[in-house]
Amino acid sequence: MIILVTGATGLIGSRLVEALLAQGHEVIGVARESARLKALSIRTRTVSVDFHDATEVMDWWPLLYGVDVVINTVGLRHERRAHHFRNVHVRAPRALFKACVLAGVRRVIHLSSLGADPSSHSALLASKAAAEANLLKLPLDGVVVQPSLVFALDAPMIRWLMGLASLPRLPVPAGGRQTLQPIHLQDLVACLVRLATSEAYARRIIRLAGPRPWRLHDALATLRRAMRMRPVASLSVPTWIVRTTAALGSRLRWPFNQDTWRLIETSPSTEGSITRTLLGHPAKDLDQFIATGEAEGARSLSAWVWQRPLLQAAMAAFWLGQMVGLWPAASGLPRTLADWLGGALALGAATLAIGSMRQRRRWWWTLQALAISMLLVAAWAGWAPSEGLLSSLWAAGPALAVLWILGDRASD
Ligand SMILES: NC(=O)c1ccc[n+]([C@@H]2O[C@H](COP(=O)([O-])OP(=O)(O)OC[C@H]3O[C@@H](n4cnc5c(N)ncnc54)[C@H](OP(=O)(O)O)[C@@H]3O)[C@@H](O)[C@H]2O)c1
Repeated sequence: MIILVTGATGLIGSRLVEALLAQGHEVIGVARESARLKALSIRTRTVSVDFHDATEVMDWWPLLYGVDVVINTVGLRHERRAHHFRNVHVRAPRALFKACVLAGVRRVIHLSSLGADPSSHSALLASKAAAEANLLKLPLDGVVVQPSLVFALDAPMIRWLMGLASLPRLPVPAGGRQTLQPIHLQDLVACLVRLATSEAYARRIIRLAGPRPWRLHDALATLRRAMRMRPVASLSVPTWIVRTTAALGSRLRWPFNQDTWRLIETSPSTEGSITRTLLGHPAKDLDQFIATGEAEGARSLSAWVWQRPLLQAAMAAFWLGQMVGLWPAASGLPRTLADWLGGALALGAATLAIGSMRQRRRWWWTLQALAISMLLVAAWAGWAPSEGLLSSLWAAGPALAVLWILGDRASD
């Protein structure tokens, strides 16, 4: 079969492309940057389309010649200046679905989200519901899939949860009544492949989730145990702190934000029978998500979730202090100790910057890593800040740190 997958560079889309190829299907991968997709899978035909602009039927129709199945996995986690839910979640999918009717595509599968609701206060969930309605009213074999939270070690929200699970106290937010019913990425992908190749569930909304809902606190404790970390006491977090953090998360584009908190708060759940039927066996449950061999890696990833902002805050405080001349002059610390601390922080920055190079905008990180490493080498070479070269490098420090912090935010 020829299957067109949109969002083919995403968490779900990329794994789906691999699974479809493994089953012998011909896959057309649609992505904003087809070069990125080519790097992920050399066996995929790629097309570059930006959903923000592809809001007319004619943007899609020429791509659908001979296509049997379309699977739309595009989704925004946050609205950005040039990327609105209205275009990416509603208008472009509507144009795509209409083009599928014209082109005679056999089946269209649209990935929505458990909790999608036209009356939701969350613009994300309301836009998801609008796309679902657009698909289901067309004369087409359309299937809306609403997955619950998807578990994969590289999923941003899962990293955030693992970060919470690795804290010295397990947070119990807002009374702790919330539940999660996560589904493992492998199970979700297997269900999507099955749906692509069958005729079952036409013109329906199907909810895919793990076998049972977990209280948030129990879910965190279970993840912590799976990461081979010793149990710790709980810490009740008042609702106002959770809401303020969520509001901050929306502004700073964190995985935990007002949309995700609304979803966690409403705790949508479903009985897992469709997932089991599609898989042909029970789905993995949360206590089976982290395999023994993954525990160590998961532990360091999870700690990084809160260590990184702490390091960034420390760096920013150090450099800003340096910039306004507070540090080390006003600290009263011996000059050499201050220089060594500066060097150690620069080393930290270089390590972080190099670590971040695995992300996109490689040139940006390379530039910063080189600049910060030069600063470090200069510090270790023993020049005192009062001497010419190092003092000018020190002067560049705050600017580098601020650029680094801004760049790091932009890549999230
Ligand atoms: N992950 C979960 O826990 C979860 C749970 C329930 C529902 N879902 C839904 O499942 C879908 C996929 O989720 P995911 O976790 O795979 O998300 P993801 O990793 O963020 O992937 C989103 C995909 O959408 C693409 N995209 C974003 N804006 C685009 C645009 N303007 N034009 C073209 N492509 C664009 C991204 O391309 P780039 O790589 O170029 O950015 C990426 O390929 C989303 O609709 C999400 O709401 C996810």
